[in-house]
Amino acid sequence: MIFRVAGFALLGVDAFKVDLEVDIARKGIPAFTMVGLAEGAVRESKERVFAALKNARYDIPPARITVNLAPADRKKGGSAYDLPLAIGLLGAAGYLRQEAASPFLLAGELSLSGDVRPVSGILPMAVLARDSGFSGIIVPKDNAAEAAVVKGLAVYAVETLAEAVEVLSGGVAEPHHARSSFAPAVPEEQDAEYVSAFDFAEVKGQEHAKRAVVIAAAGGHNILFVGPPGSGKTMLAERIPGVLPPLSFEEALEVSKVYSVAGLLAPGKGLLGRRPFRAPHHTISRIGLVGGGSVPRPGELSLAHKGVLFLDELPEFGRQTLESLRQPLEKGRIVITRAGASLEFPADIMLVAAMNPCPCGYATDPGHVCTCTAHQIQQYRARLSGPLLDRIDLHVEVPAVPFQDFSADSLPDGAPGTSCAMRQAVANARRRQSARYKETGLSCNADLSGRRLETFCPLSGPARAFLSRAADRLALSARACSRIIRIARTIADLDEARDIDARHLAEAVNYRVFDRERN
Ligand SMILES: Nc1ncnc2c1ncn2[C@@H]1O[C@H](COP(=O)(O)OP(=O)(O)O)[C@@H](O)[C@H]1O
Ligand SMILES: [Mg+2]
Repeated sequence: MIFRVAGFALLGVDAFKVDLEVDIARKGIPAFTMVGLAEGAVRESKERVFAALKNARYDIPPARITVNLAPADRKKGGSAYDLPLAIGLLGAAGYLRQEAASPFLLAGELSLSGDVRPVSGILPMAVLARDSGFSGIIVPKDNAAEAAVVKGLAVYAVETLAEAVEVLSGGVAEPHHARSSFAPAVPEEQDAEYVSAFDFAEVKGQEHAKRAVVIAAAGGHNILFVGPPGSGKTMLAERIPGVLPPLSFEEALEVSKVYSVAGLLAPGKGLLGRRPFRAPHHTISRIGLVGGGSVPRPGELSLAHKGVLFLDELPEFGRQTLESLRQPLEKGRIVITRAGASLEFPADIMLVAAMNPCPCGYATDPGHVCTCTAHQIQQYRARLSGPLLDRIDLHVEVPAVPFQDFSADSLPDGAPGTSCAMRQAVANARRRQSARYKETGLSCNADLSGRRLETFCPLSGPARAFLSRAADRLALSARACSRIIRIARTIADLDEARDIDARHLAEAVNYRVFDRERN
């Protein structure tokens, strides 16, 4: 008799349905065959499932057992098929009725004793179940909160195989989320703990750098900090997520899906409510950064989706690794192509990078003697490719803070230079951009280029004259001029000005320190 159970597999951050068909034939030599492009981890399922069934005292008679995973043309990995496979075997052996199993999508890893363990990708699985008309899902207890994010779906959270059988035999009438305390499907409040732990109020002085942060956050621009060790570059970077606008529900869902697929949602966590901050070390591999692998997993770029990716010591990253950032920075997503199939991970990020001005770090620090030769400095900077630097609109010099600034009094609540004040300025400028770009598909000024830059950033006569003088004096390329106009647009938005004028351009020119010598 053939019994069918529905499971799921992942493609990027989306789930698709996998039908498990289990056939038990009493005739012939006992054997177990699994077909349908199952990878190693799925094949090992068999051992866990039979042990779990035995220890839960279900008797599966020796027989010719065939399991088919459909669609057959897509690879299936992971341990989430343990539970559906066990249920399929029980069904085929006559313990369960087909009508009872059909309305459910199931997932879970089994321990040898029959405990159900958490698996990755439950959030996209729940979305799939809702969209393809399943009335309920049976998932591991530890994944319950993420499953409960999806409305209109009965979530049964089980701790053991026996509990899953009980649900399917009608022994549990009510879905668990209706009677217990799963996390509600709203993003967590902007984590109060984070907000107080990472406030710009603690960064003394550095008004120039903070102003650049407000501009970057307001216009969605990438930013590079250049300064000596200890000048506070890391400190500045890790406070940036706190001045970005809070995640919308849709954004929170997208971000949480990435974490669900990566298996990084903590038990009991539903939607993530805070913008991510990821700071991979410079020794990270290309796959670690952009994602991939034989069963593709999201990389740091995708884990930073809708948040900040911080690359400290930028020139120390491998050249190949940095090159692989270019396309995602342009497109906001990563396409991974492998034998026949291609899949996508989201990667709409704000890139924040930091570096020393020279190999020893002290070239711009009046308090230290720089020991580097001009040649060494040039070589160090040449490690960064022009095209990558081109994607970073703001380059900011971060000087070492003089001692008297360190000992200055703390800023009062809400004063300029605190996260609270910066957040308000950013939110205000973002509102102006949303109104302006309503019908264009653009989200912020950083996305402006080519024709759209001309449409949305017309320059008045005096403004144009100013920029052309600056371009002559500083030998700016056309590309550099476009970047200056984009930043000036954001500065004008912060200024609540409709038009870009010479003042805005004059400030924007300041954020091109680093490549003046390059242009
Ligand atoms: N402007 C500042 N205000 C307060 N403390 C600072 C400031 N700049 C640096 N510090 C202190 O110096 C330490 C090192 O700063 P860090 O951000 O790691 O520097 P960098 O990343 O530039 O090497 C910080 O942990 C902080 O204690
Ligand atoms: Mg640092």
